[in-house]
Amino acid sequence: MVAGVAALLLRGVKEDAPRAVTLPGVLREEAGTRLAVGTAVRDEPLREERGYRTVLARQFSSVTPENAMKWAVLEPERGKLDWSAADRLVDFAVEHGQAVRGHTLVWYSQNPAWVEGLKGAQLRQAVREHIRTVVGRYRRKVAVWDVVNEPFEDDGTRRKSVFQRELGDGWAEDALRTARTADAQAKLYINEIGAEAPGPKADAYFALAQDLLARGVPLDGVGFQAHFSESGVPDGFRENLERFAALGLDVAITEADVALEEPADAAALRLQARVYEEVARTCLAIERCVSLTVWGFTDRFSWIPETQPGRGEATLLDERLGPKRAFREVLRVLEGR
Ligand code: XIL
Repeated sequence: MVAGVAALLLRGVKEDAPRAVTLPGVLREEAGTRLAVGTAVRDEPLREERGYRTVLARQFSSVTPENAMKWAVLEPERGKLDWSAADRLVDFAVEHGQAVRGHTLVWYSQNPAWVEGLKGAQLRQAVREHIRTVVGRYRRKVAVWDVVNEPFEDDGTRRKSVFQRELGDGWAEDALRTARTADAQAKLYINEIGAEAPGPKADAYFALAQDLLARGVPLDGVGFQAHFSESGVPDGFRENLERFAALGLDVAITEADVALEEPADAAALRLQARVYEEVARTCLAIERCVSLTVWGFTDRFSWIPETQPGRGEATLLDERLGPKRAFREVLRVLEGR
C-alpha cells in the first residue's frame, strides 16, 4: 500500500484519479466541420489517467502539446533528442482522429541552456536545424505549427530573447521560411499572448503579419492565446481578430482559459462561463476563425495555479472532470451555431 502510493507519487500522478463522468454533450460533435475544438494536453495524465484520456479523446478534435514539443523538452542536451512525450501525443491524436497543433518552434522561454548560449550564425544554424528536424519528423501528422510564439513585449517592441539579441528582427521570417521548406502543407502560424484587444502589442502583431504577407513569407494564420480572467474579454476583441482575417489569414484561439481567484464562488463561475461563451461566440462570428483551443480542459491540470498562486479554476471541467457552467455554455454556443 505505502509502496503503491510512493510509486504513484514518484510518477507524479495525483492519487484520486477520477473516472470519466458522462458529460452533457460532446464539443467536437457540436462544432462539426465548422471549427476545430482543441485543448492543450499534458503528458503525465495522458500516460497515467484513464478518465483524462477518455474525455480528451471524446470531446476534442484538436490537441496541442502543453510542453512536449518545446525545445527544452525535446533536446535538453545538444544532439540528444527525446521524442517520447511528443510521439505519445501525436500517436494519441492519430488514433482518435484529432488534428495536432505543433507548439512551439521559436519562443523566448523553455529553451535548453545550450541554445541560450549560442551566438550569431551558430544560433541561426541551430534554429534552422531544430525546425527542420521537428517539422520534418511530424510531416503529415502535425497539421498546424505555432512557428513563432510571443514575439512582442506589451509595449509592442520585439521581446527580448536570445533570438532577438543574436539574430535581429529577421528571426521570425527565417523561422517561417525554414518551416515551409520542411513541410509544404502544414499551416504556419504566429501566436501571441495579450494581443487580443487593440493596443501597442496587437498593433505591432498586426504590422508583423502585414509585413510578412507583403514580402511573400509563408504565413497561414495568426493565433490569439486568450488567457483571460474574471475581468472579462477586452473591448475590441472581435474587431481586432477581424482585421487579421481581412488580411486573408486564418485566425485561431489557441490557449483560452479564464483564471479566477480561489476559491471561486458561484458568481465567479457564472462570470467565467460568460467569458468562455463570448470567446466561443467571437470565434464563430468570424468565418476565418478556424479553431478554438483551451489551455487544458480540467482544473486538475492547469498552469494557472502553478504560475499565479491564489488563482485557478480556469478551465471547463472541475478537478473530478465534471462539467462546470463554462462547459455547458460553450456547448450551447456550439450547438446553436
Ligand atoms: C505554459 C505551460 O502551460 C506550463 O506547463 C509551462 O510550465 C510553461 O508554459 N503561453 C504559451 C504556452 O505559449 O506555451 C505556455 O504554457 C503558457 C503561455
